[in-house]
Amino acid sequence: MSERDVLLALRNVDVFIGESHILQGVSFDVRNGGITGLLGRNGVGKTTTLRGILGLAPRTGSVTLAGEELTRLSVHEVVQRGVGYVPEDRDVFAGLTVAENLRLAERKGSELRYDLIYELFPELKQRAAQKAGTLSGGQQQMVSLSRALLNADNRILLVDEPTKGLAPLVVRNVTEALRRAAEVATILLVEQNLSVAHALVRDVIVLDQGRVTFTGDVDELMNDPALARRHLGLAAAVGH
Ligand SMILES: Nc1ncnc2c1ncn2[C@@H]1O[C@H](COP(=O)(O)OP(=O)(O)OP(=O)(O)O)[C@@H](O)[C@H]1O
Ligand SMILES: [Mg+2]
Repeated sequence: MSERDVLLALRNVDVFIGESHILQGVSFDVRNGGITGLLGRNGVGKTTTLRGILGLAPRTGSVTLAGEELTRLSVHEVVQRGVGYVPEDRDVFAGLTVAENLRLAERKGSELRYDLIYELFPELKQRAAQKAGTLSGGQQQMVSLSRALLNADNRILLVDEPTKGLAPLVVRNVTEALRRAAEVATILLVEQNLSVAHALVRDVIVLDQGRVTFTGDVDELMNDPALARRHLGLAAAVGH
């Protein structure tokens, strides 16, 4: 991919947590637009990679967004540059209402996409006054995604396992929302459900034990069972 197609670039990123060398020289590019998949078995460093991009995990090496170096900025400053985060644990404020959760995500000066959010998730409008802690897991995921989608100046969304633990119907709803979200922002998606990943992503990065082991086209990986099994384990062989 040519340099001007690249929105986010990692070069030789290392993360140490305590004595553990969690990310070991991770380098990859995320293309501007669409959804790039960050895949790999459990515990290989996917979440740590997203946390490293944001600066939530201390890292060395280089992370650039549209050519601007992020590694010297605070987490707050990285977010201000237009990096949205939808963490694995969903991270909604349980004691606050849906509307309050969304309002807290509003960034000053950014155009707000309430129309898009309520179009994608009409349920959230109906449940605006409900405490987020009393929502189902799927509805909480919708709030979490909406918080990242709300600010129109977010250029990239880092989305960590959004379909984990959700019922099939809700998985479909979230999948469709991600597809629509990718029309307005670039998404780096961690997804363990390989059929969801296959349906959504174009470029794939596979991590194994803190290193990148594959980068390329999703079809190249998924349509070659032996290759998929080698990189993703048994789940890939029986996934679909
Ligand atoms: N705060 C921490 N303290 C100690 N070890 C950590 C910490 N965070 C992550 N690790 C370790 O780093 C490795 C990578 O973890 P990470 O959460 O990034 O993996 P993952 O690919 O997201 O896994 P999963 O698919 O289970 O979500 C694991 O071995 C994990 O135990
Ligand atoms: Mg994880």
